[in-house]
Amino acid sequence: MAETLICGRVLTFSGDPFAVPVTEAAHVDTQGAVLVRDGLIAAVGPAARLKADYPQAQVEDMGQALILPGFVDAHVHYPQTAIIASWGKRLIDWLNSYTFPEEMRFADPAYASEIAARYFDLITDAGTTSVCSFCTIHPESVEAFFAEALKRGQRVAGGKTCMDRNAPDGLRDDVQRAYDDSKALLEAWHGKGRITYAVTPRFSPTSTPEQLEAVGALWGEHPDCLMQTHLSEQTDEVAWVADLYPEARDYLDTYEARGLLGPGALFGHAIYLTDRERDRLREAGAAVVHCPTSNTFIGSGLFDMAGLKGSGQIVGLATDTGGGSSFSMLRTMAAAYEVGQLRGTPLHAAQLLWLATEGSAQAMRQSGVIGRLAEGAEADIIALDLASTPAIAQRSVRAGDIWEEVFPTIMMGDDRAVSGVWIAGRRVKG
Ligand code: GUN
Ligand code: ZN
Repeated sequence: MAETLICGRVLTFSGDPFAVPVTEAAHVDTQGAVLVRDGLIAAVGPAARLKADYPQAQVEDMGQALILPGFVDAHVHYPQTAIIASWGKRLIDWLNSYTFPEEMRFADPAYASEIAARYFDLITDAGTTSVCSFCTIHPESVEAFFAEALKRGQRVAGGKTCMDRNAPDGLRDDVQRAYDDSKALLEAWHGKGRITYAVTPRFSPTSTPEQLEAVGALWGEHPDCLMQTHLSEQTDEVAWVADLYPEARDYLDTYEARGLLGPGALFGHAIYLTDRERDRLREAGAAVVHCPTSNTFIGSGLFDMAGLKGSGQIVGLATDTGGGSSFSMLRTMAAAYEVGQLRGTPLHAAQLLWLATEGSAQAMRQSGVIGRLAEGAEADIIALDLASTPAIAQRSVRAGDIWEEVFPTIMMGDDRAVSGVWIAGRRVKG
């Protein structure tokens, strides 16, 4: 049985660094190792002991690199890969000007496959090993995404984006098609390889109440699937939802009233929340997903990480490609830090790394499966070079401790910092 021993400075968490002091929650073994067998993590411990216990294991010595779980990106739109960094619009104009015309192209399965392959290449280079993605209304876009993930052995979640109003011709389904197409895709793909289906109404403005009802019923029939959508990203959008759903108590209620709130629900953005919405999200065991590069790029606002995590809310971290301006979770952590600063609550490096791994895994209901280095977890692992450029190296060399050494890579690092990537134990970068 082939075994690999990945050696370096191994980062593990024994708790949530938002709930317990960082020094208690996070641990770095400066001469650590991770033993990988059959795609799973078989042991984590001191390199000397694991080398002695498993002399037959093939050693991959990553030197001083930080060894941590692959990044988990809990909210992306892979079909927006080619329109990332489109200039000058706010949410609704951005959707109409850039996003919807591009998503129209995914009716063509060849184009969908081309972009899916490009997307997975880009995120692999950036050290992201799992994502939860919106596709487009076209089943072909979902097939292309899952087929590529299956080929690469990656744990992903995704689903057909449902829209039956306020979207252009050619980019709308209807109530029955949303249900039927989603159900057929779910039955074909959910549980295949490492794939999870996510029931995916885009957001309340692009679905009629009847469509939300129908996909809510589908999720109720398959509660082990995820549900992903958007919530309270911009003030104009919140006002539009109030117009479209005059009976709703608030934005969340447009989902809640139709079976779209519960464990396994992921709500992207969640910036402008009322007290009732905060309470209901937490009580329901639903996740919110912070997308900081998107929130600054589209001009949406400042997510309340401290308040939400402080209340016990499940929070994931995400790029929101291509509303977000990067494929990299390093860049995303840097933006989360900056958003925290603008709110007067800067995040610690350990909290940022926890959000990009375990936090997002929790949001995807995959805690213990991905996002942590622990026995029995899937062996999606990365190595980070903490001196990957001269600018970073000259700063990290002055560090007094590991967190001060990691932080310049979080703030200034890019794909060059990702010196190794393993997916289910198989090395795919470096
Ligand atoms: N709200 C509805 N659709 C989208 C999208 O594609 N991106 C972002 N950022 N927000 C949305
Ligand atoms: Zn989104």
